[in-house]
Amino acid sequence: MGRAFAYVILGGGVAAGYAALEFARRRAGASPGELCIISDEAVAPYERPALSKAYLLPQGAARLPAFHTCAGANDEVLTEQWYKDHGIELVLATRVISADVRRKTLLTDSGETIGYKTLIVATGARASELEEFGVRGSDAANVCYLRSLEDADRMVGVMRSCHGGNAVVIGGGYIGMECAAALVANEVKVTMVFPGKHCMGRLFTPKIAEFYEKYYAAKGVVFVKGTAVKSLEVSDGKVAAAILRDGRRLPADMVVVGIGARANTGLFDGQLAVERGGIKVNGRMQTSDSAVYAVGDVAAFPVALLGGAVRRFEHVDCARRTARRAIEAILEPSGGAAEEGKAFGYLPYFYSRVFALSWQFYGDNAGEAVHFGDFSPPGAGGKAKFGACWVSGGRVAGAFIEGGSREENEAMASAVRSRAAIADVAAELGSRGLGFADEE
Ligand code: FDA
Ligand code: NAD
Repeated sequence: MGRAFAYVILGGGVAAGYAALEFARRRAGASPGELCIISDEAVAPYERPALSKAYLLPQGAARLPAFHTCAGANDEVLTEQWYKDHGIELVLATRVISADVRRKTLLTDSGETIGYKTLIVATGARASELEEFGVRGSDAANVCYLRSLEDADRMVGVMRSCHGGNAVVIGGGYIGMECAAALVANEVKVTMVFPGKHCMGRLFTPKIAEFYEKYYAAKGVVFVKGTAVKSLEVSDGKVAAAILRDGRRLPADMVVVGIGARANTGLFDGQLAVERGGIKVNGRMQTSDSAVYAVGDVAAFPVALLGGAVRRFEHVDCARRTARRAIEAILEPSGGAAEEGKAFGYLPYFYSRVFALSWQFYGDNAGEAVHFGDFSPPGAGGKAKFGACWVSGGRVAGAFIEGGSREENEAMASAVRSRAAIADVAAELGSRGLGFADEE
């Protein structure tokens, strides 16, 4: 047996960083042997969203330590020194290869067994691979995935070597849209390929998607929709073209793949209850084993706003809040956190920023979407402002807003949180000059 800790956080991403901060705040630091974070990444936890945005800028790109967690939530970012100063052990570049929840031990790839009293699983998700869809070529030198800092460094190198060339972006979700914008900024020509009818199919309505697709097209991005990549033409270890199911051949100097993510649950197969592709937890983030908690992308939890329905979110706000929630529940079992089994009062919140655009979404895109604002392309220097409310039973279930001010974003969030009547939201929007759009 190697070392043992009272608390072990398994995974060193966003949720781990916020859990460490919450722990340090509540305990004024940790004592030796109390808390450790085990991560297979070589650096302390960082704000992963930066990787597809500021990290890829052609000039003035963000680099660590500037975006370690918890930028925005703390006066200082949590560098390796911060963990040292707060008595939290960082076990970096170390992969946990098996877990035994009965014995309360983790085995690392360095052969060490690490024991815990309480485990917080924060293993996040991994990028789905082309091979899972029967397409070979992920190992080619110019094929890029984007999940980790290592991936981002690789992508920057490939992107720089393709200046003026062609990129094929596979997938029209978050990674596809954000990377396409970054490629354009780096003067690489982009063709996006995905099977859906429009981009961001899981969230956007056709009308919202149309706005972004037109905006991207004006920047030179070509959309190839309703088909998928059948194979990659590889020569000398590099992809030269993507062959589509409909027979088309798209020449490629590089390929970016963003075809979804899968929660990293494998270590706990057969040991913890699962739901929605993640580890099932109660409203306190506690799994089916009372000594094990799960947070972030890997956790599926009951959401009070959705009547206690179990959901799993792959978004940074959720990672931050579930991490704090778990620490609160662990350190203050009879405190503010809801009693066991109760749903978590979490308001789902997603956002993205591309080019000069910035959108926010709150709640659930269930029910009928009612659009508001002006969907025409903004003129030079102009700002787009529009959105949609999803209405279910006459009440707002979800809200999307592009170009909202802080106050407008907060107003939308509060309309969803309070499940406001749609008539009230219409009046509120009207008073701000954001009338409901005519549906064609
Ligand atoms: P996260 O993936 O951050 O961390 C998991 C950690 O566990 C990693 O360090 C991993 O290496 C480690 N790990 C896994 N298995 C392990 C093992 N067996 N042993 C040791 N370590 C292990 N969201 C959003 O709301 N807005 C945004 O703009 C973006 N942008 C964005 C860009 C990019 C490029 C990505 C990939 C993702 C986003 N996201 C986002 C999503 C957001 O980043 C994501 O929801 C959080 O990072 C989830 O935090 P977690 O800590 O759960 O997982
Ligand atoms: P996603 O689920 O958002 O999008 C996947 C896309 O791939 C969809 O357009 C889908 O139609 C397409 N697709 C699926 N199978 C395909 C195939 N065989 N060929 C071509 N296209 C296919 O996933 P993502 O964009 O890969 O993002 C990965 C993770 O990163 C997610 O967890 C996401 O939440 C997170 N992320 C979030 C943000 C954000 O919140 N702003 C930004 C970047 C990444």
